Amino acid sequence: MRVLFLGDLVGRSGRSAVIEALPGLRERYRLDFVVVNGENAAGGFGITETILVELLDAGADVVTTGNHVFDQRETLVYIERYDRLLRPINYPQGTPGKGAGLFKAANGAQVLVINAMGRVFMADLDEPFRAVEKELEACGLKTCADAIIIDFHAEATSEKEAMGFFVDGRASAVIGTHTHVPTADEQVLNGGTAYISDAGMCGDYDSVLGMNKEEPLSRFLTKIPNGRFQPALGEATITGVGIEIDDATGLAKAIGPIRLGGRLSQAEPAFWVRAATTV
Ligand SMILES: [Fe+2]
Ligand SMILES: [Fe+2]
Repeated sequence: MRVLFLGDLVGRSGRSAVIEALPGLRERYRLDFVVVNGENAAGGFGITETILVELLDAGADVVTTGNHVFDQRETLVYIERYDRLLRPINYPQGTPGKGAGLFKAANGAQVLVINAMGRVFMADLDEPFRAVEKELEACGLKTCADAIIIDFHAEATSEKEAMGFFVDGRASAVIGTHTHVPTADEQVLNGGTAYISDAGMCGDYDSVLGMNKEEPLSRFLTKIPNGRFQPALGEATITGVGIEIDDATGLAKAIGPIRLGGRLSQAEPAFWVRAATTV
């Protein structure tokens, strides 16, 4: 089973690139399931209902989020109507929306997606490890779900690695998001869980984390806000990972980086490129 995971979409540059490319990518790689993190899709802050629907129509199966999930106030209301939009599971009890869901992939498999948020250098939500544990207990690999994808939205690589090891052998993949910079540590852990500390962002990398450089730079220099952060609008690099999951076990066979367009060095998972050209 083939899963595409794309990191945080930032602003119009990132979301337009993904919406335009997704139908072709689904075809090219014969994707079974697509997860995208949409927490910065609306002008860099949150996600509107219109954008969510555009992403779902383009071929995203699930849209995950993070600390920016409620930056657009409308999300507090419409999130209840969309199972396919997740917010971190460890928000306080009573927060609108859900942090996990079971979804049907193109190959018929049932995929459990869990969105959780770290607590190191971030808001002090409920403890994420036990929140994930509770979901895995309720719907385990092969007893309930054919595959389990966890978007761990966190700042610290230590906390993300710890989450990877915590669920190793019990989830198909733990994909880090939030830092907007792709890491090069993608691997299949000893127990069979695919892991990367950060999937990177889909956006213009001629920027500070997807935002125009001037305001962040000036704040570092002067400590005085001069205006709002605005998304950079140059060509986006579509950034994330491809994951090949063993249908029999639900564990990962391979994980590889995807970087398409824009200014980052280009990459496609070798195992998918080979498969695409041999058929
Ligand atoms: Fe983000
Ligand atoms: Fe974030």
